[in-house]
Amino acid sequence: MADPITVSVELGNRSYPIFIGSDLLTERELFTPYIKGSQVCIISNDVVAPLYLEKLKAVLTGFELKEFILPDGEAEKTLDNIAHIYDALLSDRFERNVTLIALGGGVIGDMAGFVAATYLRGVNFIQVPTSLLAQVDSSVGGKTGVNRPLGKNMVGAFYQPQCVVADTNTLNTLPNKELSAGLAEVIKYGLINNLEFFNWLEANIVNLTQRNKDSLVHAIKTSCEEKAKIVTADEKETGIRATLNLGHTFGHAIEAAMGYGSWLHGEAVAIGMLMAADLSWRLGKLNIEDVASIKALLKVAGLPVVPPESITKSEYLSLMSRDKKNVKGSIRFVLLEKIGKALLTADVDSNLLEQTLQAGRTMGETS
Ligand code: NAD
Ligand code: GLY
Repeated sequence: MADPITVSVELGNRSYPIFIGSDLLTERELFTPYIKGSQVCIISNDVVAPLYLEKLKAVLTGFELKEFILPDGEAEKTLDNIAHIYDALLSDRFERNVTLIALGGGVIGDMAGFVAATYLRGVNFIQVPTSLLAQVDSSVGGKTGVNRPLGKNMVGAFYQPQCVVADTNTLNTLPNKELSAGLAEVIKYGLINNLEFFNWLEANIVNLTQRNKDSLVHAIKTSCEEKAKIVTADEKETGIRATLNLGHTFGHAIEAAMGYGSWLHGEAVAIGMLMAADLSWRLGKLNIEDVASIKALLKVAGLPVVPPESITKSEYLSLMSRDKKNVKGSIRFVLLEKIGKALLTADVDSNLLEQTLQAGRTMGETS
């Protein structure tokens, strides 16, 4: 095997590697050093398991293996399903030395991570992200959890994996719409902290949508490096980590209002980032040309650039008022001072916010 690219998440004695490369699912030595005992349970879903479960099981010979396969979809990210996994592990007498392996996209990763954080008060887990979004974002940094009807990811824990194995070959089977959803989070890193990467993305976005391997590896590696830096600086989100939520204040409201699963998380984040850019412009921070460039990049990435028309202003405000970043009831926004520099603020004129909520397809346009 060619050595995988390794990005480290530095968190003292909880530091861990992210391995990035092709065909890593067949590399036993990427897994075994991170498996503590003899019991392993792979958690996946009924879309990903038929594609990759046997391959993964083949490198884990010698372990007592169990699998738990959930139905696919964001709507399955529930406490009920978490309880089903606990019960299955308990009934098969899986002990504290068990290692859980999350094989799937962000939904599986967040849920398996939450089970790992809580089963028998905490067991080891490994992330094997198979969607682009999971490879660039959700598998890294230890946020785990589930949705509640009143808000996304409202119940969970910070709990870091032992390692992340991102096999880029798994992206070959990812539907185009899901690839685009992952690109939204990739673009996010350029917007919040890395102008050079944003410029690279503008030049390479078509290669990425066409799944050029080298471009994808560069995008995944850079995204993981950006995220690892932020997580190292602020693991539990007391400050700078909140900037990773660019687009999420609007995006989570859209996901909840439209019904989980109806808009992909990445699609909601994309339009949320454009709304954040529009609001930044209205507040006199970003210039309109930058808002237009963001809109153009999202569009070429295959992402929506018009918010759903059915959500009313008051629905947005009510859902956003429950955002996890809020302090003392005021909505805290991640905005852009410029491309490559995020800004966290609660100081937003409500008239300007309303203008953004009503801008619809005119975002990024002056008239
Ligand atoms: P997802 O897990 O639903 O995966 C998207 C779809 O692609 C699903 O249908 C899945 O079965 C399918 N899929 C995954 N890998 C595939 C493959 N290789 N081939 C074919 N199909 C494949 O969604 P997602 O976009 O991966 O993740 C979104 C979730 O991640 C949301 O719940 C979001 O809240 C969460 N998230 C968490 C964090 C974090 O820091 N923990 C960050 C961002 C997003
Ligand atoms: N996706 C946001 C975070 O990990 O903090």
